[in-house]
Amino acid sequence: MPILSRESSKDCASGDALPKLPLPSLSDTLATYLRCMKHLLTEEQFNQTQNLVKQFGAPGGVGELLQNKLVEKREKKANWVYDYWLNDMYLKNRLALPVNSSPAMVFPQQNFKAPIDSLRFAAHLISGVLEYKALLDAHALPVDYARGQLSGTPLCMEQYYHLFTSYRLPGPDKDTLVAQKSNVMPEPEHIIVACKNQFFVLDVVINFRRLNERDLLTQLEKITKMAGSEDEPVPPIGLLTSDGRTEWAQARSVLMKESTNRDSLDMIERCICLVCLDEPNGTEQSDATRAAMMLHGGGPGMNGGNRWYDKPMQFILGADGCCGVVCEHSAFEGIVLVQCTEYLLKYMTGSPSKLVRAASVSELSAPRRLRWKCSPEIQKLITSSADKLQRLVNNLDMNVYKFSDYGKDFIKKQKMSPDAYIQVGLQLAYYRCHGRPVSTYESASTRRFQKGRVDNIRSATPEALAFVRAMTDKKLNLSDMEKMEMLRCAINAQTKYTVLAITGMAIDNHLLGLREMASEMKIEKPAIFTDKAYLISNHFILSTSQVPTTVEMFCCYGPVVPNGYGACYNPQSDHIIFSVSSFLESLETSSAEFVKCLVQGLLDMKDLCNKCNSVSNLVEGGKNPSAEIKMQTEIENKSSQKISESNTKQQRNPQVMVKSTKLTFPEE
Ligand code: COA
Repeated sequence: MPILSRESSKDCASGDALPKLPLPSLSDTLATYLRCMKHLLTEEQFNQTQNLVKQFGAPGGVGELLQNKLVEKREKKANWVYDYWLNDMYLKNRLALPVNSSPAMVFPQQNFKAPIDSLRFAAHLISGVLEYKALLDAHALPVDYARGQLSGTPLCMEQYYHLFTSYRLPGPDKDTLVAQKSNVMPEPEHIIVACKNQFFVLDVVINFRRLNERDLLTQLEKITKMAGSEDEPVPPIGLLTSDGRTEWAQARSVLMKESTNRDSLDMIERCICLVCLDEPNGTEQSDATRAAMMLHGGGPGMNGGNRWYDKPMQFILGADGCCGVVCEHSAFEGIVLVQCTEYLLKYMTGSPSKLVRAASVSELSAPRRLRWKCSPEIQKLITSSADKLQRLVNNLDMNVYKFSDYGKDFIKKQKMSPDAYIQVGLQLAYYRCHGRPVSTYESASTRRFQKGRVDNIRSATPEALAFVRAMTDKKLNLSDMEKMEMLRCAINAQTKYTVLAITGMAIDNHLLGLREMASEMKIEKPAIFTDKAYLISNHFILSTSQVPTTVEMFCCYGPVVPNGYGACYNPQSDHIIFSVSSFLESLETSSAEFVKCLVQGLLDMKDLCNKCNSVSNLVEGGKNPSAEIKMQTEIENKSSQKISESNTKQQRNPQVMVKSTKLTFPEE
């Protein structure tokens, strides 16, 4: 959510001063669930789901029992869903972190003329990190306040305190998010610098004094020399962290048998962050390739081994100017990441480099290179991780598009929420490409509440479906005014759902809570959670998120299902940046096709608004207001009838993929 910073407060850091996340009523959630799913299911599927929901929600039934237990849990916990959500969303997910989970921010392309320039940039950035961390350690970070929908309320600041203190430890079935207590007194602290697949300990606080930028540059220069002078080939051990979480957990337990490895792992796990000094990637520097480089490092042949994916913040500084940050996501959301990186970029542009003025006061010993004892077993595991990372690299279909025709200003002039409008645009794009609606995720912040993270705005509303059908099905033969009315309905429905989600009243977290409570109580999984509809509802073919920035940069992430799209957008006043990802191995998807349909849809929506505005201006300028009201009422009645007719038709028709360039598949 776009946010505004004001005063600082310790209460908001812990969230204590904020209300607790509410618990929606069982009947509301079940009714919304049915409404969200009806048009995404066949009639037969829906009837079955309706029966299961009825059974589950019956008075005295299992739903009521679970709901009562959640009420008790809410009394005891700061945030009743936090642990369930963290485990389900991240820690139990076994997929590899790059592309599948870790988002990235892509900085503007840097123009480094000589190798020393990238090290200067790194030293300046690290100085910024240390400034920012000092603010965090002193609890001096200003509190964020919500903007946009329901603006003005303070937001929970807890996520900020995970930026430089967390570590995602891999486990055989479930990872653990380890948090270190933040330091009030400056103690020995270090950053890990990755260079040529090797890891170096860069102490940044020595003798209670923070290293200045000149010292940092000196140390970075030593690191690059040391990295280049190693005679023995160094095993690219970081590749292990790019593997599936269970595989990495197994490899880590093998590594832990050697004390040398234990020491190296300990140093990495306790560092502030990683700074990855990347080799030039040798590819054309389009936004899409730079985004891909941030997400996966180009694979084992490029900078894929120059990473440690468990650590929340990895700054990537490519010698070719390809820079950004890739993040382990379980510790915080993209909005917190944006706030932090904007601080750093503003620090770097606002405060001139202090390299010239600051004198180095101490003769610093060289940073320590971390050593590894790699058994043949580990070598084999590294090879296997490398193969899997390469497959991920080959599979990613990334497309970054700057839509310049208009931005938030035009949409606000239509008296519409820009976010809701873009979401309807994404629904139109998917429908144009694939001829059906699909379960869609849009992240909505719940930071208005203690320990708030996110819930889901289910953007594939029935109203959006009616609109996209109206825009794509010529047989419906609707007038522009009718389509415009449908657009307004779709945007209103989306805005209503947004408000529901940001006030903690959406359904996804609640359903998850009910499901997990059943498992906690060791009762049989209720049938609504084994129902096909529930699986469809959680298979997010469209995974979307607004990540706005005030500094030139953009966010990107991968799809969350094999046949899906990741669609991240950054709305600005006169343009919108879209980062669209999908997998090449899926025969259903194509990022370029999706972007083409998105652009076409956004242009059509603008045309529609303009045409209808000029008609209503004409009517406004005319002399017969009662005729206008009559016309408007007729349109509303006619279009709401057509909405329900077209959605019913949609239900009866099999949902078939329409794709021009590739094979098409019916829905699974
Ligand atoms: N007419 C005119 N202007 C309107 C309007 C209308 N009908 N409705 C909204 N606006 C304005 C708002 O006042 C706001 O103005 P501002 O730019 O001056 O602040 C602007 O349009 C944006 O509002 P809107 O588009 O409605 O969206 P939002 O900013 O409230 O964002 C969410 C909605 C869901 C994206 C946001 O609440 C949220 O949760 N963000 C977090 C997403 C997240 O977590 N991302 C990272 C995941 S890793």
